[in-house]
Amino acid sequence: MKYVFILMLLVVGAAAGAWGAAIVVRWNDNMTQTARIVPGERAWSTPSGVFSMPPGVVPRGGELIIPKEQRDVAAKQPNPVKASEGSVAIGKERYATFCAPCHGPEGKGGTSGLVATKFIPTPDLTNAELQKQRTDGYWHSYIVVGGAVMPAYGEALSTQEAWHIVNFLRSIAQK
Ligand code: HEC
Repeated sequence: MKYVFILMLLVVGAAAGAWGAAIVVRWNDNMTQTARIVPGERAWSTPSGVFSMPPGVVPRGGELIIPKEQRDVAAKQPNPVKASEGSVAIGKERYATFCAPCHGPEGKGGTSGLVATKFIPTPDLTNAELQKQRTDGYWHSYIVVGGAVMPAYGEALSTQEAWHIVNFLRSIAQK
């Protein structure tokens, strides 16, 4: 009787393992490796070559997205958007929509954002020291392709909007 029980446990365990493996394989396959067009990414990102384009081309109106592994390159990008009142206002509006849940309404970080209490406390973006350390390009890259744990917003926001947000963040720097 004991052996039958152990045998059943093994069978159930093996079935669960196989099922889990199937989910992982299908997840990888369906979610990350299918041919797809990603704005600003190069054609070689589609291994099947279904959408092959001459190397290095970008869609009209698009912009080449620098992956986060090359943050140092992205950090050197100059900010093409003047920090006018209009730009800061757009940045502020987008910030309230996309960033405030984690970074708090004033960018003070910690757990001032509703989501941050359940996620990872965020840094104080108004901190003068941090503001000095980071270039506009660095923060723009953070918004577009994400951070260590911060999600990427390149699909929700245009690169232009990301620059507006950077201009807004500069406007709330502590003196
Ligand atoms: C899901 C929560 C979440 C959202 C939403 C979010 N962030 Fe973050 N952000 C984080 C966390 C956590 C960190 C710190 C850890 C890290 O670097 O990934 C961070 C770090 C940052 C940093 C600091 C980077 C540095 O200099 O080290 C900036 C700037 C930033 N976020 C801007 C934004 C902006 C702008 C938005 C909106 C477009 C946004 N974040 C949306 C969680 C979030």
